[in-house]
Amino acid sequence: MRAPVFAANWKMNHGPRATRSYLEHFLSRYSARDDRTVIICPPAVSLEAARAALAARSDVLLGVQNIFWEEKGAFTGETSPVMAHEAGASVTLVGHSERRQLFGETDEMTARKCDAAWRGGLTPMLCVGESQDERDRDETRAVVLRQLRAGIGRLDASQVRRMMFAYEPVWAIGTGRTATPENASEVHGWIRAALADEVGEQAREIPLLYGGSVNAETAPRLMAAPNVDGLLVGGASLDAERWAHMACT
Ligand code: 13P
Repeated sequence: MRAPVFAANWKMNHGPRATRSYLEHFLSRYSARDDRTVIICPPAVSLEAARAALAARSDVLLGVQNIFWEEKGAFTGETSPVMAHEAGASVTLVGHSERRQLFGETDEMTARKCDAAWRGGLTPMLCVGESQDERDRDETRAVVLRQLRAGIGRLDASQVRRMMFAYEPVWAIGTGRTATPENASEVHGWIRAALADEVGEQAREIPLLYGGSVNAETAPRLMAAPNVDGLLVGGASLDAERWAHMACT
């Protein structure tokens, strides 16, 4: 049985001060539960503040939104997996569509980042998803599976089995257009089958999250869909009260 995963991606919102007050509020509304995993991905500069605010609440995990693949060195502006881990992260998003679209991240880069994540002590959550044009051309399956296979290309099966994946159709992100539960289920089924080719039966245990305009109303229906094991939420996670409510879906 896969425990559901509720992951908040704050994107470029909430500096250290806002992070402290958000988490104070969130923790007062969300009691520790052992039947699910909650992950919060603040901006990298807010990780330390988040870790301090979480204090003994080890049931809430922290993630970083992006990493570089080197441990340290002359890479201005980048965050290394080791440093993110030191600042409190145990998870990292890799290949979010905004990284791919706005910052030119390629499949090869996502492969290097997934590999670096494990070496730096972070669990990668690889994000995949098709654009509207690709969907219109009926290329969803091909695009998603290409991104998936490329992203895990440098990993061995034991690493793939322990990671997480998020299907985030680009046309659904920040647009208010959520995929239907049937849409999400279909794509998650393709992802699960492709993972089974890589790692065998244990693919059943790998959490597959859906992301893209999820809100408190759509969350329960999406979570009830076959093969949807969790949610990766942007806009609707920015308010502590709403996120505490959604994390209890
Ligand atoms: P929204 O929930 O704002 O559409 O963002 C989804 C997302 O990109 C999460 O990573």
